[in-house]
This record gives sequence, structure tokens and C-alpha cells, in this order.
Amino acid sequence: MSEQRKILVTAALPYANGSIHLGHMLEYVQTDIWARFQRSLGHEVWFAWADDAHGTPIMLHAKKRGITPEQLIEEMSAEHQKDFQDFNISYDEFSSTHSQANQVLVELIWSRLQDKGAVQARTISQYHDPEANIFLPDRFIRGTCPRCQSKDQAGDSCDACGASYDPTDLIDPQSALSGATPVLKDTEHFFVTLEQFRDSLSTWIDSGAVQSEVANKLKEWFGDALRDWDVTRDAPYFGFPIPGQPDKYFYVWLDAPVGYLASFQTICEREGLDFEEWLSPDSTTEMHHFIGKDIIYFHCLFWPAMLEGAGFRLPTKVHAHGFLTVNGAKMSKSRGTFIKARTWLDHINPDALRYYFAAKLTPSLGDIDLSLDDFKARVNSDLVGKLVNIASRCSGFVHKLGGGCLSSALPDPELYAHFLQQQEAIKADYDQVNFAGAMRQLMALADEANQYIDHHKPWQMAKQEGRADEVVAICTQGLNLFRVLITWLQPVIPETATQASLFLNCPVDRFDSVNEPLLNHSIEPFKPLMQRIEQTQLDQVLDASRESMT
Ligand code: MSP
Ligand code: ZN
Repeated sequence: MSEQRKILVTAALPYANGSIHLGHMLEYVQTDIWARFQRSLGHEVWFAWADDAHGTPIMLHAKKRGITPEQLIEEMSAEHQKDFQDFNISYDEFSSTHSQANQVLVELIWSRLQDKGAVQARTISQYHDPEANIFLPDRFIRGTCPRCQSKDQAGDSCDACGASYDPTDLIDPQSALSGATPVLKDTEHFFVTLEQFRDSLSTWIDSGAVQSEVANKLKEWFGDALRDWDVTRDAPYFGFPIPGQPDKYFYVWLDAPVGYLASFQTICEREGLDFEEWLSPDSTTEMHHFIGKDIIYFHCLFWPAMLEGAGFRLPTKVHAHGFLTVNGAKMSKSRGTFIKARTWLDHINPDALRYYFAAKLTPSLGDIDLSLDDFKARVNSDLVGKLVNIASRCSGFVHKLGGGCLSSALPDPELYAHFLQQQEAIKADYDQVNFAGAMRQLMALADEANQYIDHHKPWQMAKQEGRADEVVAICTQGLNLFRVLITWLQPVIPETATQASLFLNCPVDRFDSVNEPLLNHSIEPFKPLMQRIEQTQLDQVLDASRESMT
């Protein structure tokens, strides 16, 4: 066996002020497939995760509901975890960035950054809402775009013309909280000076730690001096106080990625792992982050700079993906395509969506469309029509003519060997997050398995005297091909795989377990492993999404 890898994997931490939707799930399914795949090769994998609990929006959301931020994040954590469990996301730990462990780590990293001379204090002038008595984040200021004059644009960028600017450039600025005209007010902020990490960041980017598309973007940003990063927020704020600085808090994006480590630390304590070794710059372990393309800056500049400044290892790889669209457009509440994870689960099985996402995911940053018609056609054709069909066509005869026991030899060992020959190519695709490539190869094999059965027509043979052994042998071949496919699809459709494993009476969670075929082996009666997707289910999802948003 190849050497066992030790892998820490994370997905971006969802904000604790809203429900999980299918856009989030694209990422979380991607992460989970990769984690399950690595486990199925026998590697040591830890999936550390959390809710991202801090920031102004969460504070205001709680206030609006008349509860404390702590109550809100507790409620959301329970809801999020229920969604993730029902989608079969196999995380090892789900904590919160608002935890003692995270605060301790944040303070440690902060003090090391200070020791390195990577922190500077500076007085800035920022918009302040005199009525709500709060400094306004850019998103909470609205006004007229300085470039195209469109009204009611956000404080950092214009939806109409795409310009990005400073809030002070806005014409007629207004506070989105109170409607008051904001006034500029001085405040002292702390900045992390990124420029001093330029060389180590460049080396890291060139090490293959990011996709080439991402590397190109980063190189563009590197064209200029790296701007210092403002990591301070003034009270009132829901976050960690900056030690020794009354009324100053760490910006949520400083403590959020540290949450990956704090969550992993909890795993280390529980499992007896050496946290410090995992974090040391010469560690032989791996650290993989899965993120959306909107947060590349945070994960490929700020975060590695913080790690470097703190004397920790850098990420092995940051895997960024594009955005999910539904029926060709941005998810929309009015069209009913802003679909919550829970709404999906209420009507359609999670494996079907997991498979569809897998069939579309590649290592590119391109957006991914969930076309509901295509989804239905694809799942019904691939999973129900091709994959599950192999098992349902073969199992009856094994019970009727073979007493439920598979034959002692494969009638077509060459065909079985041909399946096994694809193993390395499929593994490589999974490993490189080219799930689309892996799914293509697996479905081509499913076609071959069905052709084998079509060619031998066990249903005709079964009507002829004295051919029972032959029929069972053909079906033994078919079921063994099915077993290869379901074993290699297990990372994608774990629930179906579990059902198949009960049916086959054998585990399907190790990639190489199929190197030996299943012979002389009793199987259970077949139960349908997956139902066809019906149009009514899709209609229900759209209707419910429209309703739940009003
Ligand atoms: N809290 C931050 C991440 C902190 S990580 C230290 C955040 N949260 S989020 O809830 O807005 O998004 C979580 C992840 O979901 C991000 O990686 C984001 O890119 C991803 N997605 C959110 N909407 C998405 C789509 N419509 N499509 C694909 N991914 C999307 O960002
Ligand atoms: Zn504009």
C-alpha cells in the first residue's frame, strides 16, 4: 500500500446568521466527497469545521430578534448541523469561532504577529452613524455611485457599473441602519502589514498550493505593494476584544480562519493527536481548505500571512470553486430558486444532489449550474437507469436459482480486470477534485456492465432447463461489477452505498477492497436503492422555496 497521508480538511465556515442553502451545499458536498475519498484509500483524515459566529450582521440580527448573539449562534449551530448530518457530511468536529479555544489561539497568533513587527496602529477616519451610535461597515452605507450615478449603491461597490470605491467616495451617503447621514469620525485601528510576507507568500503560491487560475489572480494583486490589512472593529461589535485595547475588537475575518485550527485542536485533544506537530512548518501532515471564489483573498493572502507570522505551517492546498446558479441564473427568491438545504431534504434525497454536483465539479473556478430538468434526467439515467439497474436485474435470479449465494468463479474475469484497470485513473481524478472526470469514467463502466447483461440475457436463459448455474454466474459477474462501481461511488452517494452494502453483505467503504471479487457469498434480497426523481418533487421544492421566503 502507498504511504498513509495525514490530512486535515476544512470547508469555509458558514455565517451563523442564516440558513444553509444549496450554494453552501455545493462546497460542503465537494469537501465531503474529497474527505470520504481519502478515507476510502485508508488515509488519516480529519474534517474540522465550525460556524462563523462573529461580526456586525450577526450582532444586529440578534438585536432585531430580541435575543443575545450567543442565543442566535447556538440556535443556528443546531440548525446547520442538522442540515449537514442529513446531507451526510462526514465532519469530525463542528465548533464555533466564538469559543474559548479559538480566543486563546487568536491571542497567541496576535502576540506573535506583534513580536514580528507585523502590526501597526494608525488613526483612520471612518463613517459613524450618529443615531445608531455605531461605526458603519461598508455594506451598511448606501448612496449614489460616484462613477455611474446609480442610486442606492453599497459603500464598497456598485451593483450597476461594478465600480469599487471607498465609502467616502459615495455621493449622499446614508446609514442603512437608521437612514441618518453618517459623519466621519477618527478612530485608532490596528493593521497587519502584509508586504513583509511577500516573499514567503510568493513561494507558497508557486509551490502548487493554489489552482493556476487562482495563482494568476494572486500575481495580479502582487503587482502592487500589498495593502495593510485593517483587523480592528470598534465597539459595539460581537467578537473577541483586542487584548489591552478597550472597546476594540478583532475583525471577524481575523478569527474566522483561526477557527479551523481551534476546531481541529478539539479533535486533537479527543483523539490524542499532536496538535503542535500538525502545525509546525516542517510537518509531514497536510492541510486542505475548500472555499468559494469570493473568499480567495482571505485564504490566499491574509490567512497564509497570519500563519507565517505566527510561525505555523502554511496550507498544503486551497481548493477554490465557482458559484452555484440554479436554472442558469443567480439563485432568486422570487423564482423559488433560492433553495435552502432543508427544503431540498424535505422533498428529494441528498445523494441525488450530491451525485449531480459531483458530475459537474472540476478544479476550475467556473460557475456551476443546477438545471433542474438536467438534474432529473441525469439522476434518472445515471443512478437509477444505469447503476442501480445492474443490481436489480441480477439479484432476483441469484435468489431464485442460486439460493441467494453468488457463484464460485467469475465467468468473465477479463471484464472484471478491465474495470480494475480504471482504478488509478479514477483515483487521480478524485484526488485532484476532478469529480466530473471520475463520474464520467464510472458511468462509462456502468454502461459496459449493462451491456454485459444485455448480451447474456439471463432472463431468457432462466427459462431454459438446466441453465440455472450459468444464470447465477452471469448475475454474479453483474453484481461484482456493481460492487466495484458502488465502492468507487461511495464518497459521492454514501447513503445509497450503505444500502448497497447491506444488500451485498459486505463493506463498500474501501477503494481497494474490490481487488478480490465477491464469490461464494450470500447476499440479501434486493430493495430498491434509489427512486426515480419525479417532476412533482422539483415543483414542490420550487413552491416551498417561494413560500418560505415571503
Ligand atoms: N464565514 C465566511 C467564511 C469564513 S471561512 C474562515 C463565509 N461564509 S458564507 O456563509 O458566506 O459562505 C460559506 C461558503 O459558501 C463560502 O466558501 C462561499 O463561497 C460558499 N458559498 C456561498 N454561496 C455560494 C454559492 N451560491 N455557490 C457556491 N458557493 C457559495 O464566507
Ligand atoms: Zn456605478
